[in-house]
Amino acid sequence: MADVVDLTPAHCDALLRFFADLPEGDRTFIRDDVTDAEVVRGWAAGGTPGTRRWVAVEDGGSAGDVVAGYVAVLRLPGWSDHVGEVRLVVAPGARGSGLGRALARHALVQAVEAGLTKLVVEVVAEQGAALALFTDLGFTGEALLVDHIRDRDGHLRDLMVLAHHVGDTWAGMSAVGLPEALGEPS
Ligand SMILES: CC(C)(COP(=O)(O)OP(=O)(O)OC[C@H]1O[C@@H](n2cnc3c(N)ncnc32)[C@H](O)[C@@H]1OP(=O)(O)O)[C@@H](O)C(=O)NCCC(=O)NCCS
Repeated sequence: MADVVDLTPAHCDALLRFFADLPEGDRTFIRDDVTDAEVVRGWAAGGTPGTRRWVAVEDGGSAGDVVAGYVAVLRLPGWSDHVGEVRLVVAPGARGSGLGRALARHALVQAVEAGLTKLVVEVVAEQGAALALFTDLGFTGEALLVDHIRDRDGHLRDLMVLAHHVGDTWAGMSAVGLPEALGEPS
């Protein structure tokens, strides 16, 4: 399994290759224009205050590092600055082996440690893998935005907002060692 590490400038080219190789529909989950090298370089350079980004990196031998997945937590501004929005994507060829779960867990633990008390993620209603993964981590449905997005063929799709309320629940879970159970240092 790939290592989950903080995004640094050393990962920039590998991350650009990862985004370029993604199907266009998957790229839209990230929202920013990730085909723009300047955008990705800005992220790697430390970019936006309040935003944390991680990559799942595999050793590609002589080809250098290969990025197999990406996750970010973006702290919302102003009166919602206790809330973080999760954005997650795994390379199609690396799916189904637990990497998405590992990235989401890592982001959740780090976000809680950074003091965020609520996390949200937007998933397309039919995205079984994303729903299963976030639900297992304690996210629940908070809003259903009907006909909110158009897929590549122009069909309307529902978008679900899932939320994880950290608060007392996490304090309790932390006391019983959930960070260790999730494979993270407490
Ligand atoms: C959602 C996504 C990140 C999952 O990545 P992944 O590496 O395949 O995830 P995992 O292998 O950890 O699988 C997580 C769970 O999803 C489910 N799952 C995996 N592949 C599935 C599939 N093809 N169909 C339905 N469920 C599936 C399983 O329940 C799995 O749990 P398990 O480990 O108990 O079997 C990936 O599909 C993706 O990048 N999708 C496009 C972007 C997206 O939807 N992002 C989420 C919102 S930002």
